[in-house]
Amino acid sequence: MCGIVGYIGNDYAVPILLSALERLEYRGYDSAGIAIIEGDKLVVEKKVGKIRELIRALWGKQYKSNIGIGHTRWATHGAPSEVNAHPHTDERGLFAVVHNGIVENYLELRKELEEKGHHFRSETDTEVIAHLIAEYYNGNLFDAVLKTVKRLKGAFAFAVITPLEKDKIIGVKKGSPLVVGLGKGENFLASDIPAILPYTRNTISLDDGEIAVLKRDSVEVYNFEGVPVSKEVFVVPWDILSAEKGGFKHFMLKEIFEQPKAIADTIGGFLSQDLTLPFDINRINRVITIACGTSYHAGLIGKYWLEKYTGIPNEVIYASEFRYADIPVDENTLILAISQSGETADTRFAALSAKEKGASVIGIVNVVGSSLDREADFTLYTHAGPEIGVAATKTFTAQLAILYLFAQLMARRRGLIDRDGFYRAVEKLNEVTRKVEKALELNGELENLASRYKKFKNFLYLGRWLNYPIALEGALKLKEISYIHAEGYPAGEMKHGPIALIDENMPVVILAPRDRVYEKIIANIEEVLSRKGRVITVGFEGDTVLKNKGEVFIGVPEVGEDFTPFVNVIPLQLLAYHIADQLGLDVDQPRNLAKTVTVE
Ligand code: AGP
Repeated sequence: MCGIVGYIGNDYAVPILLSALERLEYRGYDSAGIAIIEGDKLVVEKKVGKIRELIRALWGKQYKSNIGIGHTRWATHGAPSEVNAHPHTDERGLFAVVHNGIVENYLELRKELEEKGHHFRSETDTEVIAHLIAEYYNGNLFDAVLKTVKRLKGAFAFAVITPLEKDKIIGVKKGSPLVVGLGKGENFLASDIPAILPYTRNTISLDDGEIAVLKRDSVEVYNFEGVPVSKEVFVVPWDILSAEKGGFKHFMLKEIFEQPKAIADTIGGFLSQDLTLPFDINRINRVITIACGTSYHAGLIGKYWLEKYTGIPNEVIYASEFRYADIPVDENTLILAISQSGETADTRFAALSAKEKGASVIGIVNVVGSSLDREADFTLYTHAGPEIGVAATKTFTAQLAILYLFAQLMARRRGLIDRDGFYRAVEKLNEVTRKVEKALELNGELENLASRYKKFKNFLYLGRWLNYPIALEGALKLKEISYIHAEGYPAGEMKHGPIALIDENMPVVILAPRDRVYEKIIANIEEVLSRKGRVITVGFEGDTVLKNKGEVFIGVPEVGEDFTPFVNVIPLQLLAYHIADQLGLDVDQPRNLAKTVTVE
């Protein structure tokens, strides 16, 4: 999941490309590079590692160009290396390409081009794009790109420049995200909005199968047949500050502390949105939630609320499993596709495959204008603002808020609760934002706790009912930013196997709010203690029973049993954060990960 950028204007392109790439670094940080047109020449600079390596390499180089493209890489084909870094060019160095996605038929195309005498330098799939454009070029770059896109299979967004036509950048979208930023006498291309926010909030979101031709004073969009397409300009509601750290050491910590506002803004957004659904809710007899990672965990909790308040069966399936399984779907099936980025390929393509079978699709996204937002029949928005840290935090609790409200809305629409009942439920959720705020006061305590537990190599997280997914989420947070092995497990399942893992080297975090399964979880705590597990319990403040069980008790504010996930996830996010920070790891950009997973 790479990040690509482009700039054409009157300012020096290099500093603009580099700062835009820095804002996209959460998408991949294996290598970075730029290509500019300096005079009549194409100049390519690329470095392995983070953007700062590229910036260091460019120090002192006075490039005057005001047109260029750039790339930050998350390696899929070919290990992180300078030769595999983007931009890639044809062998005469006339066409430079930066690409995000996967060209699935690249080996076949490469073989065909090698038989025509082309010589390839890298192991990447991307390089075939530059060679194909060179192969088709006959004095018109747009025509060469049109011919090229017809040969490519897979998901791709790419940009190309050439000194043969110094007045334009051409951007192509099919499957991977690409937005155009509109300026005065300048225009921008980027994989994601934060990259262009410092320069403009006027954007055009390209749809799959579209090509944008950017010049200094115009942007034209065409489909893959070369037919012009008129596009709407979308003004981004976020400002540049929301994409800054705001005095916090890491974006992740800032975003953890933004959760009360994210939940409140999400409630406000839901109540002010026109909730007229484009399908008859009463014919829906089954809901399937599809998502990945943290969004999947939110979906698991949403299931409990939807089934509790509407009685409609709600399965929750990993999107990557859904698409290729023979799961019965028809016009009475509602798909809930949850994706904060709205660009996760597994979730998008799973939703599209269900739509083809007649299902209605509701997207739950945080990025307005994202692909899933435009592909779903209806979209519910989490208003968490841009999330830069790779580890999802504020978008998770905002997703929980939407899923709780959606369950209430469905109950209302099916006449199971009346108007007052609906607004009482909304009011209860509003109160939770204050409890989350209070739970954030545990930050110092978790920082101390982290220093005690950062040495352990394995963790187990246990929970029951609504808090089983929170155990999964706590384990995921620790895994993805501290690289410590951790497993989330239904507490009742533990005695059927994982209990064998427990000894004095295994911290076991157990979620034990006073809800309908409290007694059961207390029994599970006893099981772990009897095997010398190092028990850390999370329960309601002042719970004297838990205080006397295990090594550590973390007291969160008491809430109604529906809302325990909102407060229980906070100490787990903070524990993972502080452990990773104290281990000196790159919390916002953990190894091998990317914020948006745009390939299957
Ligand atoms: C969570 O911290 C991870 N970044 C990852 O698991 C993420 O939740 C997953 O990739 C889904 O992303 P999405 O919500 O943008 O679809």
